Amino acid sequence: SVVSNPKMSWIREGELNLLERISANILMAGPMPKHVAFIMDGNRRFAHKKNMERHDGHMQGFNKLAETLLWCKHLNIPEVTVYAFSIENFKRSKEEVDGLMELARQKFEKLLEEQENLEKHGVCVRVLGDLNMLPLDLQQVIAKAVIMTKNHNKCFLNVCFAYTSRYEITNAVREMASGVEQGLIKASDVSEALLSECLYSNNSPNPDLLIRTSGEVRLSDFLLWQTSHSCLVFQSVLWPEYSFWNLCEAVVQYQLNHKSIQKARELHLEEQALQQLEADCACVAEHLQHQGNGKPADAQRRQEALRHYTTAREARVQDFLQSLKRKRDSFFTDLCSETV
Ligand code: FPP
Ligand code: MG
Repeated sequence: SVVSNPKMSWIREGELNLLERISANILMAGPMPKHVAFIMDGNRRFAHKKNMERHDGHMQGFNKLAETLLWCKHLNIPEVTVYAFSIENFKRSKEEVDGLMELARQKFEKLLEEQENLEKHGVCVRVLGDLNMLPLDLQQVIAKAVIMTKNHNKCFLNVCFAYTSRYEITNAVREMASGVEQGLIKASDVSEALLSECLYSNNSPNPDLLIRTSGEVRLSDFLLWQTSHSCLVFQSVLWPEYSFWNLCEAVVQYQLNHKSIQKARELHLEEQALQQLEADCACVAEHLQHQGNGKPADAQRRQEALRHYTTAREARVQDFLQSLKRKRDSFFTDLCSETV
């Protein structure tokens, strides 16, 4: 059947119909989200409603993802992040978990066969989460797909798999702690901005719009850090029944809130810069006090010391982030070089 066809691809070809095209053009006259995140909820309720097997509900969910990616392409939305498997989902029945792992394995294998297509569309696929929790063969096929597409830069698909937001944040904090322990950074270098850079999502701008289907009004530990200034849209439609019109409706919601979202973001950026300046000043003040045996330094010396300190901190932080990046890259390359 169409439902269980393992050949069903991530990348669809196809045009919008006339009405959809006209609507897309009207929508695109306004501000468009550049990054949309989806909580694809309601697969099992859909299966139940249609008297299908649970697993077929998930497969339909995957097919809907492929369709949604095509709509996003037509709407010039270059980045999509999806919640495909939460760490919490490991608590589901073994049968369901195995089924989802098998679906993922099939789909990432399929992705590997589509190198040309991915290159043509410039699709970069990233997987966000703790891959160590997955079966080794799935880790390997994911690593291959990620490495194969890592230099593509026209559109980005982030698949959150074995992911929760709190786990991601905790992991980022642990990375910073280990950086301090190794002497790469100082405890005072820890900041909001640095934590953001240590998240799995460090290569992406924050989502502009987050959509959850199936009527559940919760974030369920998805992108908590990244969505503090995103437009959140909850829709009652079950994920496998999601339509182009549902997506347009969510984009309209974003457009109606665009101004206040922008404003909040700008304020937050200013606030963050101020926090960093204050932190640097505090470090410099302490430093000068030590040097001057408690005597106050003059303004020019303070300015100079601040400039010097800031430059050194930025270099330190960059080196630390480089080493984190190398570690994460080699996790993937090591997986690929292991014998399959
Ligand atoms: C939530 O619906 C959906 C999931 C837990 C799985 C989502 C996965 C896909 C759509 C397939 C994606 C696969 C790849 C390889 C990217 P639910 O199971 O919670 O359904 P319910 O809310 O009706 O119980
Ligand atoms: Mg659910």
